[in-house]
Amino acid sequence: MESPGHVPVLKEEAVQLLLGDPRGTYVDATLGSGGHAAAILGALGVEGRLVGLDCDPAAVTRARAAVPVPEPRFVARRARFSGMRAALQDLGVGPVDGILADLGLSSLQLDDPARGFSFQAPGPLDMRLDPSLPRSAETLLRSIEDEELTRILRDLGEVPRPRAAVRAIRKALSSGTPLTGEALRDALDPLFRGPARPRRLSQIFQALRIAVNDELSELQALLHESASLLRPGGTLCVIAYHSLEDRIVKNAFRPPRPSDPNEPLTPTPWIPITKKPVRPSEEEVRRNPRARSAKLRAARRKEGFA
Ligand SMILES: C[S@@+](CC[C@H](N)C(=O)[O-])C[C@H]1O[C@@H](n2cnc3c(N)ncnc32)[C@H](O)[C@@H]1O
Repeated sequence: MESPGHVPVLKEEAVQLLLGDPRGTYVDATLGSGGHAAAILGALGVEGRLVGLDCDPAAVTRARAAVPVPEPRFVARRARFSGMRAALQDLGVGPVDGILADLGLSSLQLDDPARGFSFQAPGPLDMRLDPSLPRSAETLLRSIEDEELTRILRDLGEVPRPRAAVRAIRKALSSGTPLTGEALRDALDPLFRGPARPRRLSQIFQALRIAVNDELSELQALLHESASLLRPGGTLCVIAYHSLEDRIVKNAFRPPRPSDPNEPLTPTPWIPITKKPVRPSEEEVRRNPRARSAKLRAARRKEGFA
């Protein structure tokens, strides 16, 4: 079911951690171009089942079309992480054995100029992974105050000198024409020199994308919902691509460590099964440079956790 354009990251490692029982029911919460889904289906037995979800309807359509023959083990639906419970209920799917989330965006979304994710493309600055979201990146930029934009750049992109970037963005917005990725890049270019330039631009584009798609709240929803959607002993695997996401996953999976020994421990539903995050090999990064920042963490849902 693999379609060209996006190379799945840490594919073997993720499937191996995820798949305890080949007769079980699994969820790929981020279908993308179906690379991980195809690998999961390849490892599932005839009684196994895979529900593929994605907030981008194009990913769902592509996954359905890519199934070469009738595949009764697979069903695809459009859903955000925060709508995962409703989607599974709708399908009549009960507790599941494993959930995989490969966060962020696919190469197909990044490389599509009409989606506005890249500063190398001339498309409109849209950046919505789910096109039904109310605000594109340009609408967001036009509707928020400078203080809020400064906070987004600083907290979600770790952008140095965020106020200078805000001034450059405001100037680009005042040009009277719709804002494109290229126009935003050209406005920001004079702020950055030398080899750090592409990284600085990426940090700004990343911050805007995270804000437009509410990605950190969505990740919290994924962690929260998965704890009750998994059966006891079921596995959640998350592949993160930047430190903000990875920190949230790491903290959610970590056993509580109270600073005050008299404080009661907050119960956690997770038993981590990756002590350290699984990273791609040098060979994988050489073949697929977009894998370089990936960190895969997995945890098992505790028995008896209500
Ligand atoms: C890195 S890609 C997944 C690639 C996929 N694993 C593959 O092998 O082709 C991430 C996908 O997650 C989707 N996505 C991101 N945030 C989401 C959310 N909150 N809810 C549902 N899907 C989301 C994006 O639309 C994108 O298709």
